[in-house]
Amino acid sequence: MNSVRLVDEEGVPQAVALSERVHWVGALDPNLRTFDIILKTANGTSYNAYVVRGSEGVAVIDTVKEGFASDFFARLECVADYAEIKVIVLNHLEPDHTGALPELMKRAPQAQLFISQKAQSMLKGLLKQDELSFTPVVTGDKVSLGDRSLEFLHTPYLHWPDTQCTYAPEEAMLFSGDVFGCHFCDNRLYNDKVGDFRFSFEYYYAHIMRPFKEYVVRALELIEPLPLKLIAPTHGPILRDRPQHYIQRYRQLSTPALHNELRPNQKTLLIFYISSYGNTRRMAEAIYQGAMQVEDVRVSLYDLEGGEVAPFVDLIEEADGLVLGTPTINGDAVKPIWDLLSSLTVVNLKNKLGGVFGSYGWTGEGVRLVEDRLRGLKLRVPIQGLRVKLIPTDDEIIECKAFGLELAQELTGVRESRVINFADL
Ligand code: FEO
Repeated sequence: MNSVRLVDEEGVPQAVALSERVHWVGALDPNLRTFDIILKTANGTSYNAYVVRGSEGVAVIDTVKEGFASDFFARLECVADYAEIKVIVLNHLEPDHTGALPELMKRAPQAQLFISQKAQSMLKGLLKQDELSFTPVVTGDKVSLGDRSLEFLHTPYLHWPDTQCTYAPEEAMLFSGDVFGCHFCDNRLYNDKVGDFRFSFEYYYAHIMRPFKEYVVRALELIEPLPLKLIAPTHGPILRDRPQHYIQRYRQLSTPALHNELRPNQKTLLIFYISSYGNTRRMAEAIYQGAMQVEDVRVSLYDLEGGEVAPFVDLIEEADGLVLGTPTINGDAVKPIWDLLSSLTVVNLKNKLGGVFGSYGWTGEGVRLVEDRLRGLKLRVPIQGLRVKLIPTDDEIIECKAFGLELAQELTGVRESRVINFADL
């Protein structure tokens, strides 16, 4: 029998026991197709919330999106009286998990609210109440429910800065918030019962967690030593079958995707270009030649017209420097450049070296616009972009080589930083 009883004969939502003391009291949203504007889901999602019962009180861990509050409260009432609720834990304050919070606080005014340190200002912004009582917690803080307890692990940026996980040691369960979650809706709830959700798990990681890999690694260092029977995320299947498998997968996904062939101290510089009449390409080739003069930099040159964006994103994620060459058409950089840049929001580019160049016919705004975008993506762009009107002259080709050399030297620390006059940009 694969089904899990989520409603009774009359259709009233029912809580689901994960153990004698722990219940799922969440809600299913099978009709959702787009989450947070950027994420697709082919069969909806779930907003998972949980109740832990100890000998001295009850804890509610996370709530649900506002429109699903009635399911949440109906399930909660199956397993606890509001007067018994001693603790409310919010692992993450995004509205899909806090929609029912204001009403829960009204129904259980005695409950103490536990949030991460970084969640404090968000909570005030969310509830718009001057008088708010809550307890900020950090990794290692604990709260007792008598014969059950909860321990907090601060896991920032997974998926907001406020994120934490909550561990119930006596149950060996981790309430992981968005971590290990996915947008997948299946009323069989458990990972060993639901349909094939591997794609959703990987897709969720790629869009939500990947930009914050370094924080994933830090979170795994807290999670990996924990004895675990079950991982209870806020979205998607509850991971009771081989929970360690999902932890290991996060570890794999957070380590570099490409085999590292570099020598110690060697840096990587990627030059991408697109060219309509070959002029931006001539510039790219000269920049490439100039950069190759620096021994400890592995320089690569790619025509965007000849590749797919996804493998380029993998390359860029692990590169030290990114140089883009674009013509200007109708006062803008061209679409393949913008397509590549829009795909880079899933990787961390902070402090990578950026550079831009391009040939133009009339006004040449493309280079400046792309420079601005690189800065917006948190790359450092220390050398002003190089523009050439139409066909590069021999002198301009020499200038391109010097530009490439400077960029490569910047990577190795040989080049002295120079002050950019932003009025010139
Ligand atoms: Fe499920 Fe980031 O909220």
